[in-house]
Amino acid sequence: MKRVAIINGPNLNLLGKREPEIYGGESFEDYFKSLKQVFSAVEISYDQHNVEGELVNLIQARGFDSDYIILNAAAYTHTSVAIADAVAAVPAEVIGVHISNIYQREVERHVDLLAGYCKACLFGFGLEGYRLALQFVMSEIDSN
Ligand code: DQA
Repeated sequence: MKRVAIINGPNLNLLGKREPEIYGGESFEDYFKSLKQVFSAVEISYDQHNVEGELVNLIQARGFDSDYIILNAAAYTHTSVAIADAVAAVPAEVIGVHISNIYQREVERHVDLLAGYCKACLFGFGLEGYRLALQFVMSEIDSN
């Protein structure tokens, strides 16, 4: 069975409570349960961390034992060369996800240091971006 790792960065542990007008009213834990049911043909793990170096550790660990990573590095997307290097270093295909449309927001969010190392990126679809990323993974698996 193919393995898919979802990794979320800082403040995404607050989904459901944090700025619901931007990020919606559902916790990621609840959403993750429904994702696991719908995509039962793959093994999906979920990790979240607020600390940059811990995200590097997670990407390194999951990037060698999973086939795909769905990564929302949150604010570190815009600042972290270390996370960009980790994405570039691992053999797993990385799909970047942002819940909001970062290009409609403050100018500092328009910089994405990770996108150039990702297989594909999604932004602005709300939490559904994770489901769309998994659908893309399923089609990639089917076509290989
Ligand atoms: C985010 C967008 C980032 O700019 C922000 O810092 C986040 C969430 C998103 O999913 O829309 O924390 O990655």
